[in-house]
Amino acid sequence: MPMTELNVKPIVVSGIQPSGTLHLGNYFGAIRQHIALHDQHESYFFIVNYHALTTLHDADRLRTYSIDVALDYLALGFDPDKSHLFLQSDVPAVNELAWIFYTLTPVSQLDKGVAYKDKVAQGLSANAGLFNYPVLQAADILIYGGHRVPVGADQKQNIEICRDLAARFNDRFGRGGTNTASEQILPIPEPYILDDVAVVPGLDGRKMSKSYDNTIGIFDEGRVLRKKVMAIVTDSTPLEEPKNPDTCNVYALIRLFADEETRLRVAADYRAGGYGYGHAKKELLTLITDRFAEARERRRELAKHPDDVMDILRHGGKRARERAETVMERVRDAVGLITTWNT
Ligand code: TRP
Repeated sequence: MPMTELNVKPIVVSGIQPSGTLHLGNYFGAIRQHIALHDQHESYFFIVNYHALTTLHDADRLRTYSIDVALDYLALGFDPDKSHLFLQSDVPAVNELAWIFYTLTPVSQLDKGVAYKDKVAQGLSANAGLFNYPVLQAADILIYGGHRVPVGADQKQNIEICRDLAARFNDRFGRGGTNTASEQILPIPEPYILDDVAVVPGLDGRKMSKSYDNTIGIFDEGRVLRKKVMAIVTDSTPLEEPKNPDTCNVYALIRLFADEETRLRVAADYRAGGYGYGHAKKELLTLITDRFAEARERRRELAKHPDDVMDILRHGGKRARERAETVMERVRDAVGLITTWNT
């Protein structure tokens, strides 16, 4: 089956880190776009638990985080009838493909990995899995013949490595040696970089990030949510004085949630004076609470039915394995790996 860019609908693939509670930075940075894309294209969204092992060696936490992220996506509107949501570990062949890719990857290329260097600089152990992370990520994408990969701007380099691997593989193993599109075994994916959103500020005004411990969780509610919103750092302009919305962390968050009318009104209130940061925080609290009210309810319901969630993941995993197997048959054949179980 030739795979050209012209005769197939784009396949969207992306991996989701099971890194504990998802926060507003994750939501505006990626999840929102994932949810928007998944019902327009055939999509494969997987929870990257093999990748998580590069930095997490705690079986209970890995299990919990993996299921939590599935609950989060389903609660936020991911419809498993429209696209595939599954666990990376339900497609073990991805490791087989990664192995083949290791043999095509110059160590010098991985040596330049910025994500690897950052993580080691943060004190994470410099294990070979972490070093090879981009190769497994390339296998994740190419095993489904993915064309489009919606990721944050920080993933550019990993997608570049993936594109290089696909090209090198086709070049080395494509039939005939003339590298025309119809002879591509693996399509070269396009990154779909999600950097159209403003950086989401955390409680301290730095980029919202788990590593800064400055996050607001998507599913935070009640006292926890209130406490966090009230802790957002502002300057100390007195209540009655005019304020600049454009330099305010609270307003930066309000902007992400509010409709045009509310945005303009709040900005005008800031500039007019007589409107304090306490007022702004109350408005933000209401906006967050309302935006995720339905999702919170859905999450509570889903959490009561863990077997249904497992069924969804099982079904997604089965479809993903089937798709992966058609690609792997071509790959094994192209490189000359004989298997006897499927002949
Ligand atoms: N590295 C990605 C991240 O940190 C997660 C990921 C793993 C991924 N495999 C992928 C993203 C494949 C896109 C495609 O967010």
